[in-house]
Amino acid sequence: MPFLTDMYHEQNRNSARVADEPATAETVDGFDPEALSRRLNAAILGQAHAVDAVVRAVSIAHVGVADPGRPLSSVLLVGPTGVGKTELVRQVAAALRTGPDDLCRIDMSALAQEHYAASLSGAPPGYAGSKESFTLFDRAKIEGGPYMPGIVLFDEVEKADASVLRALLHVLDTGELRLANGQQKISFRNSYIFLTSNLGSLEVAARQRARRKRWQWPARRAASHQSVVRGAVEEFFDPEFFNRIDETVVFDAFDDTTAERVTRKEIGDLVRRLKARDVALEVDDSVVDFVQRRGFDPVYGARGLRRTIRTELTEPVAWAVLTASRKPVALKAQVRDGELTVT
Ligand SMILES: Nc1ncnc2c1ncn2[C@@H]1O[C@H](COP(=O)(O)OP(=O)(O)OP(=O)(O)O)[C@@H](O)[C@H]1O
Ligand SMILES: [Mg+2]
Repeated sequence: MPFLTDMYHEQNRNSARVADEPATAETVDGFDPEALSRRLNAAILGQAHAVDAVVRAVSIAHVGVADPGRPLSSVLLVGPTGVGKTELVRQVAAALRTGPDDLCRIDMSALAQEHYAASLSGAPPGYAGSKESFTLFDRAKIEGGPYMPGIVLFDEVEKADASVLRALLHVLDTGELRLANGQQKISFRNSYIFLTSNLGSLEVAARQRARRKRWQWPARRAASHQSVVRGAVEEFFDPEFFNRIDETVVFDAFDDTTAERVTRKEIGDLVRRLKARDVALEVDDSVVDFVQRRGFDPVYGARGLRRTIRTELTEPVAWAVLTASRKPVALKAQVRDGELTVT
């Protein structure tokens, strides 16, 4: 049995004993929810309430009040493309495990047919592969270890076949998956399960377009966006599946402010990467404005911005570095006559 879960239960017993001295999240093995929140908000911009919800889920698991016979927490992240759903899970892995890629990611769009349900639990006895207990799951990253929870990400969950979702239902319910060879089990009881989805995003985008000319209070706009997405999620999943998810978090589409912050962050990251290679790049403010006007569409979130930065800035900069005659290289990017130039 995973050590961390044991530890939570031990904590639980201790805090039950000292009833008038409740265990705050900070006292549980040095876990600091505020530090986690700061860290996630610095990486995932403009999604404060999504970050809050995830920090809350992690904090609850840390205090040890969650059901011991289930995963630590299961959180569904829903929203349009390129708004930070997958990236938030990667940042949680960076904070709780050894790095952003230290998680078990299952691409559910690759499991769109019925027979793929088997690839979750491996081949049944008598079939090729049954001895190897092959499964898509990476046991070490799921089960974690002492002081380290596991993390599983089911990306684009709505694209999977219904039979795959049924297999998953059992995992959400019992925190265990018995492999089809019948000999082994994978435990998810020390794991955070994250699921991502774009459900409802097309409808929200269509409404946004229709509404563009009509002004509306931002708060009301956000509330109706939330209810459209939640409606789409509840309609899509069977109630028995939906009811086993601890928390559904709706991400906001980018507005201009978030788009500008993400643009500055992406450009800042590029400047830092170049600096590590002894290339100084000065970026004029006009470039931020240019990237936003060319690359920002609320439907594509950060994806459009990143694409524009790549073609309009990164590529000319790389070329300038390759062809520079003097070292160290010092470059300046600015917008002149409506074109981005790197000199
Ligand atoms: N809110 C954000 N703050 C900072 N960077 C972001 C944000 N959203 C997206 N990005 C950047 O864009 C990239 C793509 O984002 P991500 O993979 O998280 O999108 P997604 O919401 O999972 O979209 P999809 O539904 O298409 O999978 C990330 O690697 C990140 O660098
Ligand atoms: Mg994603």
